[in-house]
Amino acid sequence: MENKLSVKDAKIRNQIVLVRTDYNVPIENGEVASDFRIRASLPTIEFLLKKGAKKVILISHLGRPEGKKTKDLSLKPVALKLAELLPGVPVEFVDDVSGPDVEDAVSGLKKGGVLLLENLRFYPGEEKNSEDFIREIIDTTGATVYVQDGFAVIHRAHASTSAVSKQLPIYAGLLLEKEISNLEKVLKSPKKPLMLMLGGAKVEDKTPLIKAFKNLADHICIGGKIAADGLPKEILDDPALKEKLYVAKDFDTDSEGNKLDCGPLSTHKFIETAKNSKTVIWNGLLGKAEDPAFATSSEAFLKTLGESPQITSIILGGDTTGFAEETLKSSPELSFSLLSTGGGAALEYLAGKSLPGLEAIENTI
Ligand code: 3PG
Repeated sequence: MENKLSVKDAKIRNQIVLVRTDYNVPIENGEVASDFRIRASLPTIEFLLKKGAKKVILISHLGRPEGKKTKDLSLKPVALKLAELLPGVPVEFVDDVSGPDVEDAVSGLKKGGVLLLENLRFYPGEEKNSEDFIREIIDTTGATVYVQDGFAVIHRAHASTSAVSKQLPIYAGLLLEKEISNLEKVLKSPKKPLMLMLGGAKVEDKTPLIKAFKNLADHICIGGKIAADGLPKEILDDPALKEKLYVAKDFDTDSEGNKLDCGPLSTHKFIETAKNSKTVIWNGLLGKAEDPAFATSSEAFLKTLGESPQITSIILGGDTTGFAEETLKSSPELSFSLLSTGGGAALEYLAGKSLPGLEAIENTI
């Protein structure tokens, strides 16, 4: 990130600042289930307020509503959590991203206040990388400064990560800078053997990552729903992966036979592989860990990393880091080298791919 503008160099005083955050956080029963990504966004917000920003307007996506308004994916619960985390700061929410309601919300916001707009992905323009869509948000809010702090989404070419670069200069936020500098350190001296542990649910997201890591990693282990559902043939038959790929073989099931956690045999293999590695990069839970009955494999793997100071342990993504943070509350003796808000973004960065959101910052107007 050599050619980037930093928020530290921006003229902030009396400006309306638009900040792209990543508040793609788990929501359970209408409440934020892990506030890791929200807390990670606070340093930039606090910095802007301290520097005298007139108003701070936050934008984010949540989930994949595919251009339609979905009640379950509203960012309102995030605004309530933000208000808790920013005592003394007026925090407001408006259920739109442009138009008269947003105009009113911005003008009604107190000086030094924070306003969170509704989920960007409720509108097709966001994922279509539409210049008009982001222009409308900028015009409605009257923003004069744009800060990119949504590290976890910079691998997407969307309006708020990419097209925005033609509208306003993009300044890198403090979280984005910290995440990149942490990952840079790992990249400079990756200790080998390097293990990639992947879990989670979306096989279409993970397949390109397996390909991207096939030359970099010495071991690639697969758990979670992606292992239960099965990997595509192109991965299973890839000769370059033959020696290094291990996909979970046994599973714990519910009464209907659904495979909801990795079984003891596979968990043992993951742990032994980790113990024989010097760097372990982990993204994606190994089972349906929000249900304690199916958290066994994730818990055992996390504990191994946390108790092994000889392993550089890098835990990536909202769900996996959220799980690590929750576990740390009851087991503070565990220690990890790096917890990152980015899942796919961090993995793509580590694999040397070019990220549209970073390119946008480097080539901004
Ligand atoms: C993530 O959780 O990895 C980011 O928020 C990006 O979300 P996406 O995979 O739905 O684009």
